[in-house]
Amino acid sequence: MHVLGIDIGGTGIKAAPVDLETGQLLAARQKIETPRPSTPDAVAAVVREQTVSFGWNGPIGCTFPGVVMDGTVWTAANVDKAWIGTDAASLFRKATGGEVTVLNDADAAGVAEMTYGAGKDQPGTVLMLTFGTGIGSALFTDGVLVPNTEFGHIEIRGRDAEKRASERAKELHDLSWGKWAGRVDEYLQHMEALLSPHLIIIGGGISKQADKFVPLLTGIRAKVVPAAMRNDAGIVGAAMAASHTGRHHTGRPGAGEP
Ligand code: BGC
Repeated sequence: MHVLGIDIGGTGIKAAPVDLETGQLLAARQKIETPRPSTPDAVAAVVREQTVSFGWNGPIGCTFPGVVMDGTVWTAANVDKAWIGTDAASLFRKATGGEVTVLNDADAAGVAEMTYGAGKDQPGTVLMLTFGTGIGSALFTDGVLVPNTEFGHIEIRGRDAEKRASERAKELHDLSWGKWAGRVDEYLQHMEALLSPHLIIIGGGISKQADKFVPLLTGIRAKVVPAAMRNDAGIVGAAMAASHTGRHHTGRPGAGEP
């Protein structure tokens, strides 16, 4: 089955058709900058543009960088606050004329990694963390997702963790790899104290440069690995949600059962 996956982030909106047999992208992904302000209508126009540019009229899966319950957005830390309370699934359906499923971006990336990537066949507790504009989280126990965890917002040194340790924080404060990895390590220590995961998968934009910082994350017992799909995991997970592949899913009880 082929599904168009669209990954909406605070900085960019990435799209590609995905082959769900293999978890591979069927064409080079397209990236368009997230409009500013990132209002629902402006983002929906980009989703439409990408759908049209791939000539797509099949199912579409879409991520969103906030809590998504039954297709409706509940939080919007890094996009326009007008999103809060918006029925994103209906908005994108209207914009594209197709069937659209919407889920949290880190949940999507996690589901993709658990199915095709670094978390494949991993039992126990697995924590996927995405480092980009914010910090996203996806928590799995024996392969089953607990949707809409928001561990990027735990407090460290009196501040939201993502304000200190996201990829954007690294850029904003011009942190060296060593300095930034120190902050990430401290964050991971908090997460380990709370959840005792067997495995932590690091994704998001910065995972392309995993070799520069993953070896520096030595403060915890859990195994730490980069996402196998790097920053494409969100696109792949979005597509999976639309097809209801696998056991994980959208924050909707019962959705996505095999
Ligand atoms: C949001 C999460 C999202 C993460 C990554 C956070 O600020 O609250 O829902 O997964 O950023 O985009």
